[in-house]
Amino acid sequence: MRGGAMASLRCCFALVMVLLCGSQPAAAAASQLQDRPTMVALQRELMVVDWDPNNPSSYCSWCGVTCAGPNQTVEAVDLPRHNLRGSISSISELSSLKRLDLSGNSFHGSIPSSFGNLAMLEFLDLSMNKFESWIPSSLGRIRNLKSLNLSNNFLWGEIPDELKKLERLQELQISGNNLSGSIPAWVGSLTDLRVFSAYENNLVGVIPDNLGSVSQLEVLNLHSNLLEGAIPESVFMSGKLQVLVLTVNRLNGSLPASVGNCKGLSSLRIGNNRLVGSIPASIGNVSSLTYFEADSNHLSGEIVPEFAQCSNLTLLNLASNGFTGTIPEKLGELKNLQEFIVSDNGLTGELPKSILRCRNLSKLDLSYNRFKGSLPADLCNMSRLQFLLLDHNSISGEIPRGIGNCARLLELQMGRNYLTGNIPPEIGKIKNLQIALNLSFNHLRGPLPQELGRLDKLVSLDVSNNQLSGDIPSELKGMLSLIEVNFSDNQLTGQIPIFGPFQKSPRSSFSGNKDLCGDPLDFNCGDYSSSVAGYDDHRKVSYKIILAVVGSGLSVFTTVSVVASLFMLREKQEMDGKDTMVAGEVVVTPPHITAGNVFIESLKQAIDFDGAVKATLKNSNKVSNGTFSTTYKVAMPSGLVLSVKKLKSVDRTVVHHQNKMIRELERLGNLCHANLMRPIGYAIYEDVALLLHHYMPNGTLAQLLRNKIGTEFEPDWPRRLSIAIGVAEGLAYLHHIAIIHLDISSGNIFLDANFNALIGEIEISKLLDPSKGPASISAVAGSFGYIPPEYAYTMRVTVPGNVYSFGVVLLEIVTSRLPVDEVFGEGMDLVKWVHNASGRGEFLEQMMDARLSAVTFAWRKQMVAVLKVAMLCTEDTPAKRPKMKQVVEMLLEAKEDQM
Ligand SMILES: *[C@@H]1O[C@H](CO)[C@@H](O)[C@H](O)[C@H]1NC(C)=O
Ligand SMILES: *[C@@H]1O[C@H](CO)[C@@H](O)[C@H](O)[C@H]1NC(C)=O
Ligand SMILES: *[C@@H]1O[C@H](CO)[C@@H](O)[C@H](O)[C@H]1NC(C)=O
Ligand SMILES: *[C@@H]1O[C@H](CO)[C@@H](O)[C@H](O)[C@H]1NC(C)=O
Ligand SMILES: *[C@@H]1O[C@H](CO)[C@@H](O)[C@H](O)[C@H]1NC(C)=O
Ligand SMILES: *[C@@H]1O[C@H](CO)[C@@H](O)[C@H](O)[C@H]1NC(C)=O
Ligand SMILES: *[C@@H]1O[C@H](CO)[C@@H](O)[C@H](O)[C@H]1NC(C)=O
Ligand SMILES: *[C@@H]1O[C@H](CO)[C@@H](O)[C@H](O)[C@H]1NC(C)=O
Repeated sequence: MRGGAMASLRCCFALVMVLLCGSQPAAAAASQLQDRPTMVALQRELMVVDWDPNNPSSYCSWCGVTCAGPNQTVEAVDLPRHNLRGSISSISELSSLKRLDLSGNSFHGSIPSSFGNLAMLEFLDLSMNKFESWIPSSLGRIRNLKSLNLSNNFLWGEIPDELKKLERLQELQISGNNLSGSIPAWVGSLTDLRVFSAYENNLVGVIPDNLGSVSQLEVLNLHSNLLEGAIPESVFMSGKLQVLVLTVNRLNGSLPASVGNCKGLSSLRIGNNRLVGSIPASIGNVSSLTYFEADSNHLSGEIVPEFAQCSNLTLLNLASNGFTGTIPEKLGELKNLQEFIVSDNGLTGELPKSILRCRNLSKLDLSYNRFKGSLPADLCNMSRLQFLLLDHNSISGEIPRGIGNCARLLELQMGRNYLTGNIPPEIGKIKNLQIALNLSFNHLRGPLPQELGRLDKLVSLDVSNNQLSGDIPSELKGMLSLIEVNFSDNQLTGQIPIFGPFQKSPRSSFSGNKDLCGDPLDFNCGDYSSSVAGYDDHRKVSYKIILAVVGSGLSVFTTVSVVASLFMLREKQEMDGKDTMVAGEVVVTPPHITAGNVFIESLKQAIDFDGAVKATLKNSNKVSNGTFSTTYKVAMPSGLVLSVKKLKSVDRTVVHHQNKMIRELERLGNLCHANLMRPIGYAIYEDVALLLHHYMPNGTLAQLLRNKIGTEFEPDWPRRLSIAIGVAEGLAYLHHIAIIHLDISSGNIFLDANFNALIGEIEISKLLDPSKGPASISAVAGSFGYIPPEYAYTMRVTVPGNVYSFGVVLLEIVTSRLPVDEVFGEGMDLVKWVHNASGRGEFLEQMMDARLSAVTFAWRKQMVAVLKVAMLCTEDTPAKRPKMKQVVEMLLEAKEDQM
């Protein structure tokens, strides 16, 4: 099992332990060392690094061992997180043992039933191991036990009834296992119980209605089970409750008014159940309430003003329920409120101005309600808002100029309202705006302010379905991070500025405007121009810009290409005469293929270029649209199935350097690596380049990881691991031959019939060479969520940048989560969420997809190893990231580790 890294970790650990333990006094020579044989046997079995086998009589000074009495009996063994394995049943002979902590090791098999003999034991912690058995009923004999922690193992079966004899139990933790059956009623009779956590199991039935009635319950955490029925009044009876977490169950009934008994309750989380009724007014008596989360239930009634009495309330999430009425004025008194989330309810009335008085508010989500009235002018005074989500309401009036004061905003959603007037230029002052600016489906008019161009971090801009007029200002080219744009269904006119993110967008992003022309629309701006001369001038200017984008390295070709482009324009004009419009799509009849080749001799007969071109004109053949291209599935008459990639107009530059492109393609076609998706041919007509690849029947890695809802989840860790290794090998090879990939993402990793991974979109990397000047790279930010942090400063895609993006793919593979997702919380993406795990008090292992990690030990161990590689790859500092070659080695090592 142990790889080099693991061994050295153990060494360090041993050193630390020696330093810690060395200071303990040596054992006094005692008359009776009755536990000596047991400790010697244990030393042999567990090989604890600093337990000195040459001096067995000193066992009382061994690290983690505490003795007492004249006979040197062992009272405590504390060996948490020592990477131990082996048999621990001999411990049951330490008859005076009061405390045993073996948490966070690698013990497996069953929990020794002989532990029932440890009559003196008060504290038993076996959590975070790999025990895979039922809970032995003999544990019920440990009558003195006060604390039992068996969480995070692979325990299964029901909670044994014999444990009811553990009447002194104060803390019972059995979460993170695979326990079934229901919660036994005797748990409610444990008079000393303070902590009961059994979350993340398969528990069914109801929560016993005596739970908490006789005890001093402080923490009750049962989330992610299959519990049904009501929340029993009893849990609030003693009034000592501090934490109640019941999320993701099937609970119905309403929140009992007795919740008001619990003044010390700080965290109340009951989201994702089937709760009904309203929130009781007594919630105002819960003066310590900090965190109230009840989203995705069937709660109704009004939002009670009594929440305002909970002065420490930080988060209030009532989203996706049936709340009606208005938002109480009084909530404005909540000075500590940071997140107010009430989206997807039936709330009405004016936009609650009072809530803006909550000075610490960072997220205000009022979306999907029926709020009306206008936006207050002082919307952003003193504001710390990062998320302002007001979409899908009935808000009218103008967007106040004061919106510019919301300087910290990351996301602004105002779509689907009745907003009128102009887009205020002050919006350009929100320099942090990053995730989205959405003003679509309103009644906004007037020009697009050129100040929008200052939003250089913005990824998604949607102003569609308004009455905006005038040109799209060329200043918008300052929006260097844009990936998605939508200007459709307005009254915009003139030339679409030549800017990668615009030309890479689908036509539909610009359609439905009055007089808009240029790429990617089919309407040449010349069509609106009165003179042919003006038309030529205009195109010349555009080509200069395009050439500037391609970069200085190509300047020698400028003259040649301008001549070539003029030639091609004339040809195009002639063709335009023959074009026919069918349902908005231009059907070229017939396309004149100017160049084409198949690199692989044996396939030459099987490929028909005309057929390929025709197939790409049918939307029904479309498989996907990437940042740079649209892909079609095309069956050749010969039976060969191809994937045909149509390069979008930004890449028309390459058409004018056909020779260079053809050389590059042929070179890529000759690349010999099993994990690279190499082109098998190409065809060029007009200004379109088609790249031919073998069709990949099993889609992309992204599709595999997000297996569609409704389909059975397949525990496929070995497949995922071999995909990870394949991609790493492909990328290492690319780096070896000095090619930097520009868009590593799970959506660009394709799977063949045997689920071998092939890295796609390599052509892009070659055709838009990042070494050819910074302009070309700024158009290529990669995919959202995969972009390395240093990119913001360097604007260069680099080898370590590739490693980072690959690390994100690894994280997706291990966690089954999206690289960017709201669930991570504000300002968080997958990388931050995983790196901050310990900061949130969570273990790294909890980040892994439990549907995989709980299947076998070997899988879990491999996943941990891969997760560690992913953490290295996504280090903030580029220099700390490993080379792809090392990554391959580490992944292979993880794979061999089958224990
Ligand atoms: C110590 O051991 C002796 C001999 O086994 C036994 O008689 C005595 O009771 C023990 N003392 C304690 C305090 O356990
Ligand atoms: C196990 O539970 C006990 C009692 O609640 C607690 O003190 C201990 O820290 C837990 N162990 C781990 C590893 O969290
Ligand atoms: C709640 O669920 C229980 C058991 O599933 C069912 O018997 C009961 O009728 C439900 N109550 C309500 C109010 O829906
Ligand atoms: C709890 O809240 C209710 C309703 O707001 C109120 O009438 C009652 O006096 C409060 N009880 C306590 C003990 O504070
Ligand atoms: C609010 O939180 C502060 C800081 O944690 C604490 O000192 C105070 O007692 C809390 N207030 C209430 C009413 O619980
Ligand atoms: C791909 O096309 C769909 C509609 O066909 C659109 O919703 C989506 O935004 C497009 N994605 C990209 C990256 O262009
Ligand atoms: C993977 O591709 C093979 C070959 O076409 C096919 O038989 C299989 O059903 C595919 N599997 C999935 C999960 O799509
Ligand atoms: C968990 O237990 C259920 C039966 O209760 C069983 O079907 C399932 O396979 C178990 N899951 C794991 C990961 O052991």
